Order: sequence, then C-alpha cells, then structure tokens
Amino acid sequence: MRMLRNDMQSNRVWIAVLLVTSFLVSPPIKAQERGTPNDPAWQRANDLVKKLTLDEKLQFILSKYPSNADPGGGGGYIEGVTRLHIPDVNISDSATGSGSATQSSSTFPATIALAASWDRQLSYDYGKEIAIQLRAQGFAMGLGGGANLTREPRGGRAFEYLGEDPLLAGELLAQRTKGTQSQKVMASIKHFAGNEQETNRMGGNSHIDERTLRELYLLPFEIAVEQGQPASVMCSYNRLNGEYACENSVLLTDILKMQWHFRGQIQSDWGATHSTAKAINAGLDEEEGSDAGPSYFGRVPVLFALTNHDITQERIDDMVRRKLYAMIASGVMDDPPQGGEKIDFDAARKFAQSVEEQSIVLLKNDRHQLPLPPSKLTRIAVIGSHADAAVMSGGGSADTMHPVTGSFEGCEGLEFVEHNGCGWWRNPWLKIPVPLTKAIQELSPRSEVKFSGVRDEQAPFRAYSLGEIADAVALARESDVAIVVVAQPAGEDFGDLKTLSLQNPSNQNELVDAVATANPHTIVVIESGNPILMPWKDKIAAIIEAWYPGEAGGKALANVLFGNVDPSGKLPFTFPLRNEDTPTWGGTGVISKDPVYSEKLNIGYRWYDARKIAPLFDFGYGLSYTHFTYADLSVKRDTDRTLHVSFSVKNDGAVAGAEVPQVYLGIDYAGEPPLRLGGWSKIQLNPGEAQKVNIVISPRMQSIWDTSANDWRVIPDIAVYVGASSRDIRLKER
Ligand code: BGC
Repeated sequence: MRMLRNDMQSNRVWIAVLLVTSFLVSPPIKAQERGTPNDPAWQRANDLVKKLTLDEKLQFILSKYPSNADPGGGGGYIEGVTRLHIPDVNISDSATGSGSATQSSSTFPATIALAASWDRQLSYDYGKEIAIQLRAQGFAMGLGGGANLTREPRGGRAFEYLGEDPLLAGELLAQRTKGTQSQKVMASIKHFAGNEQETNRMGGNSHIDERTLRELYLLPFEIAVEQGQPASVMCSYNRLNGEYACENSVLLTDILKMQWHFRGQIQSDWGATHSTAKAINAGLDEEEGSDAGPSYFGRVPVLFALTNHDITQERIDDMVRRKLYAMIASGVMDDPPQGGEKIDFDAARKFAQSVEEQSIVLLKNDRHQLPLPPSKLTRIAVIGSHADAAVMSGGGSADTMHPVTGSFEGCEGLEFVEHNGCGWWRNPWLKIPVPLTKAIQELSPRSEVKFSGVRDEQAPFRAYSLGEIADAVALARESDVAIVVVAQPAGEDFGDLKTLSLQNPSNQNELVDAVATANPHTIVVIESGNPILMPWKDKIAAIIEAWYPGEAGGKALANVLFGNVDPSGKLPFTFPLRNEDTPTWGGTGVISKDPVYSEKLNIGYRWYDARKIAPLFDFGYGLSYTHFTYADLSVKRDTDRTLHVSFSVKNDGAVAGAEVPQVYLGIDYAGEPPLRLGGWSKIQLNPGEAQKVNIVISPRMQSIWDTSANDWRVIPDIAVYVGASSRDIRLKER
C-alpha cells in the first residue's frame, strides 16, 4: 500500500515535469492551427469558403454603410453572395430597442434597469423581444450586448451596461445573448475591453493590470462567451495597455479565440480599426464603419498586404469562415430575415412595462409613505421632468432612433465633461402614451392630479425658473402628496458626467428641497442611468430609482407607487454619499484621458468595503413592501470545489413580493476586497410562504487570477455570507 502511494507520488512528479517541459518547448499554438472542429456548422462554413472567389471573400470582412432604404438605416450591412445562397446581413444597434432609423421600434427600459431586476429569465426575454423586432424589420444582427463595468460612476454609457459586478453583468449578458439568438438574430457583445468611460472615447489608453483585467473587466465577456455563445464580439475604441483593442493580439487571439475557444467573429466598433495587417494578424475579423471613406479592410489595402506577405490567405479564410459560421450557427444563413413584418407594438409595450416593474428600486420608504392609498388622496401633485408627457431615455447608439411613441429633444443647457450639449445622437425625452400623470389618474380616479414643471419643448433641459419653482411649491402645499421626478441625462458621445450631483437641468436639487419643505409627503422619483447624490435625502419620505424607464414607464411607476406591484429591484451599482468617495474621483474629479485603473480589484462596492466608506445606498440594496427573513444556512463543498449554498427565505410580511438573496464570498488573499458576489437567485413569495434556495458557485468564482500560472487558482477556505444586499448580511457560515 505504502509502495503504491510512493509510486503514485513519483508518477505525479513526472507528469508535472513533463507538463512543464512540454509547455516550455512547444511553440505557441495559433488560432488557425487548432484543427477543424467537429461541429457541422464549422464544416459547412469551411466548404463555403472554398467556393468563394477572393473578391467575394473580401465582402465578408468590411461592412458597408446602409442606404436609408430597406431595412432602414441600421449600423451597416455585409453583402451576401447570391450564387451560393449566402444572404446579406443587415446590422442594427439594439441596446434598448432596435436602432432602425426609418422603421418604428419599441423603447424598452435601459439595460441598467434590466440589471437592477437581477432576473436571468427577464434578461433572456429582453434579448428575445428586441430580436423579434429586429428580425421583423429585416436585421440579422443586433449590437445590443454592452457589458463594460461601472468603474466610473459618472460614465456616460453606464445606462447601457449591466452595473459594477462582473458576475451579475456576465450572467445577464449570457441570457440576453441566448434570447437574441433564439430568434435567429446574431448577437454581438461589446465593448471588448477596458472601455469604461467616454472621456477621450476614441483614443484613451486604459492601463489595467492583468489580474484586475481577468477578475473584473474580462469576466463578463468570458461568462457570456462560455454560456451564451454570441455570434460576435465587438472590440472597443480605446487602447488597452498601449495597443488599440482592435489590434491587440493578446486580447483578441490569445485570450478570446484561444483560451476561451470563441468560434464567432470579432468586429470592430464603428471606426475603431486602425490598421490592415496589424489588426488582421491580431485577430480582428471585420471592420465596421466605412466603405465611403478610406477603410483598412477594403480591397486595395488588403490585396496590398496579401501581396506583401504581411497577411496570409489562411487568415483571410479564417476571417470569412468565422462570419459564415456565425451565420450558419445562428440560423441566419438558412432563414434570413425578410423584413416588412408587422410588429405587435401593444404586446411589446406590455413587456416593456413588466421589465420596468421588475427593475424599479425602492430606496427609501419612511413611515410607510408608500404604497399610496388611492381612496385617501384628494389632490396629487406631480412635478418636474415632463412627467405629464415623457420619460428620459439614454442618448447615442443605445437609443431607439425612431421610437414608436415619438420624442422631443433639446440639447440646450446640457453639460458634460468634454462636451457642452448632445453628441452625435440626441438624448430625447421619449414621449409616452400613458405618462405618469395619466397613469396615476387612472389608478386614483377620484383624486385631482395636477402637473407643474418646465413646459418648453424647445429647451426641455433648461433650468427651472424661480417662478416655476414657486408654482411647484404652491401646488405641493395644497396637495396630499407631492411626487417630484428628477432626471440625469447621459449618452454616448456626450462625454462623462462632471459630477453625480443632478446637473441637467442644473437646479433640480433646489426644486426638490423647496417642494419637500412645503409638503412632508414628498416622494422623489429618479430617472437616471448613473448613481446620483441626494443632499435632500433626509427630508424626503420615499425615494424611487426608476432608471430610464422605457415607453411604458408611466404605468409601471404608477403601479409601484400604488402597490399594485411590489418593488423588487436591487441596485446594480453603489450610490455614494459624495463624489469624493468614489474610486475614480482622485483629488480633483478630473477624468483622465488615459485612465490608470489604480484601484485594481476595488471596483464599486469592493472599494467602499475595502476603504470602509459608508455609501448612500449599497450594491444589491432595494426595499420592498413586504419583509423577508433568512434561515438555515448550509454550505457543501464538492471535491471539484463547487460550492452548494442553501438556505431558506420566508416572506413574513403582508403582501406578495420578490426577493433577491445574494451570496457573497470572502476570499482571504492579498489584494482581494472583503467581499465579492458569488451567486444570487430571484424568488417570488406569497405572504407567509417560505422557500429553500440553492445557489451553486463554480470554482472560478472562488478563484483569483494567478498571473504566473496564467490561470485561475481556487482559494481554499473562503467565507460564505448570504444577504439581502452587500451590506445587509443575514447569514454567515462561521
Ligand atoms: C458605438 C457602438 C455602436 C456603434 C454602431 C459606436 O459609436 O460605440 O456601441 O454599436 O457605434 O452604431
């Protein structure tokens, strides 16, 4: 017995030596040498590549700008090859709805709202509902999968991403991707990688150390590639550690294609390609953004690079095969969208409403101010943010260009870092058929509902005049309850916010303060894609975060205000008390053009926990009209290190509601923050009902990135916590 063990030990040593030796002597494997996968779709793509002429192949590596004809001004298109029955691929943005410029689309709540639902199934359905419209309009690819983390709370595009935690973002992105592709629409996930701010958006150099990259910024993409198998990954505008993301071979080839076995195509962001041979050899498969002006992947530069032997024919074939593979695997090749299909906008609006209802976060509710009792309210005041007509939506490519409900716009008075006013795509107030005033009136028919606010469609962001504030105060004084809606606009190419303080319009804090002084029953509703500061918090009875609520936002909000829906959203990022408390503020609040991620692993809640800074509202936080108790924690560890965490949750309040129990891990290892999210669930419980919750945590989520081994390393003996938020821990393993 003893001999046997000794033999086994010495065998292990030998195997280890052999492994190390073979690792040292083998040349690095190149993507195109990996052999042909057994997948029939890959084989079929390979056969098609062999039948294409060189000129036909070149069609698949550069998108053309669409004319504004059918299917209507999306992001571009790839021309197919009729003789081989390869269809065109029309591409559209789709973060919160289809980005068609000429066909009407529904506007769903912003992606950050989806993150606040913490609901995987909802994320799948969200991807699916948007894809139904894309396909009906004739688009075969949707660019809606944004998953950059909220490192910079003032980030101009935070609203189109999924918050500050890589696991939350990754799992929701994977589900969204699956939902999109269930409709035979190719999904693209973006912006890969290190693209967490708008300041210097086309050329910033993000300095991120390897461990931080792997454990935080790449992780959502890794999870989504693994679980969602997207057709495409979009590389970003910025440089990453000195190299443009779209010509960064470590990022595109070594990590994405080799280590993660990504079989789809890598497309550039629009205008993010900077070279021909370098980008092609680094792993970029398709340039987007220009066939009108000079392009790096156009016929002339590519043929020149081929003739010069700067690139190989094999690599061109690999690029084309990846595109064709993505088309075949997603179903687009055999069943391309025809366009011209009728869209059921009423059904889509109902879905938009249900997303918003599951995403609204109740931040404060003193003395049971909410839900409102309709029978007891004679007069209801609704104040600010065009709540009698519209809701805020995020600007830029994440917005619907042609919303089915219409919009009104205006850029006067908007202020951002680097920009004064809107960028390339306006930030509209989205008109909605049932605005908040009307939705409240419907739920409380005997109350008198009155609105007060700016009524200037030409300058909808201008500051409230003293007269308008006085009118709002007078209305609040004579009302039983005053609902003040505040907004924080943001958008792509607007720059980042200068501050988390409400700034556009500039005097919303004064408005809230004045109304709250006049009426102790003041409720604040926030429409934002970023955290905001709340100097008036202590004066306000109830506060709701509604995000950019989408076209059914009025009804969803009214349902939560009156208790027809129990709020169950949880914050996907931390709300700080002060700008100065945020990880990226530094001494001055200036956003660096070439950001150094010097806080390393301490993004978001990890920063506040590590620095022991009290936030205004913590990650994972959100109230409900009911109450949940947690009990009976049990933690089991499999031999492969998978963790099984189980416990029970009981609704011990008086109304039905949903809870999001969260598992946090304490990893005792240098550089690790006190807690990281390890898993979560969302459960619906009737009053008095209890449910056992089982959460499985993979070894990777218990690992650190070991830079010397170039791999994940599981850390033993981690502490397990279960909570209703990152700071409301209810159960501990020991
Ligand atoms: C954005 C992308 C978008 C693309 C196409 C770019 O400016 O960064 O997110 O998909 O435009 O509209």
